[in-house]
Amino acid sequence: MSGVPQNVGVIGGGRMGAGIAHAFLMAGARVHVVEQDAGAVAAASDRVRGLLQGSRERGMPVPDDTAFTLGTDAAAFAECALVVEAVPEDPGLKAAALTRAEAAIGESAVLATNTSSLSIGELAAVLRRPGSFLGMHFFNPVPSSKLVEVVLGAQTDASARELATGWIEALGKTPIVVHDAPGFASSRLGVALGLEAIRMVEEGVASAPDIDLAMQLGYGHPMGPLRTTDIVGLDVRLAIAEELHARLGDRFAAPDLLRRMVAEGRLGRKSGQGFYEWSER
Ligand code: NAI
Repeated sequence: MSGVPQNVGVIGGGRMGAGIAHAFLMAGARVHVVEQDAGAVAAASDRVRGLLQGSRERGMPVPDDTAFTLGTDAAAFAECALVVEAVPEDPGLKAAALTRAEAAIGESAVLATNTSSLSIGELAAVLRRPGSFLGMHFFNPVPSSKLVEVVLGAQTDASARELATGWIEALGKTPIVVHDAPGFASSRLGVALGLEAIRMVEEGVASAPDIDLAMQLGYGHPMGPLRTTDIVGLDVRLAIAEELHARLGDRFAAPDLLRRMVAEGRLGRKSGQGFYEWSER
């Protein structure tokens, strides 16, 4: 195990960025979070401190506050061997954030994006060193999720890939290597299963709990596809299905039932109703 870099940068300290910062801090890195303005810096600081406090309460050794910095100036990334971009899922915003980070880092540093759906190749088009750029797709919530997809663009070089997989192992997580393709590995398979389960409810093949049990007890999945859809959010699943439909074809066409439920505001756990009733949100 090679350990994590001494200095790691995170651009965008929201839900995912704060989780990524926390993961590298817990593994012994110094972490530099860059946000868009002073208000966002304060919010990001609260998120990172909250995650560290959670670890402290679970009895884990937690670094002190000198292990991380927060600010608005990408110059903080100068010493970083890795910078992970986690700004919102908007190609223009991401291109600007990545260009800014690339200008601030050294020639040998790796630049990563936490995008959940955008093409690594298209994002790489704005960069001077596309060989050192890849996807590091962390899962939500970062502290308890064991998987990170390392997404290779056509130009990503072998050394960036080796460094990224080694660092993820040093976080105690498991990397899988995926070539740049719509939905990577996780969303593509997860959404395929979820859409088919919805079609089965639509056709009256079985009840939602029984379809979930088929995967839980029959295939050893910890959670069935319909409960998963409720937790992710039906609107989020529909958006991903539409993207995959456009790029991969009819096998990702959204079932009418999914569209109807989204139109009626039955979005899953966050709205209290989906394939299940949710009292706790
Ligand atoms: P979020 O909205 O919680 O956080 C985004 C952060 O970026 C905010 O704190 C915002 O102030 C900051 N930001 C915006 N513009 C910026 C700029 N120009 N420079 C620096 N910071 C800027 O979003 P979230 O959920 O953390 O998502 C971030 C990325 O992670 C997206 O690409 C998303 O698709 C991906 N992702 C999200 C997952 C989720 O379940 N939320 C799971 C896996 C990936």
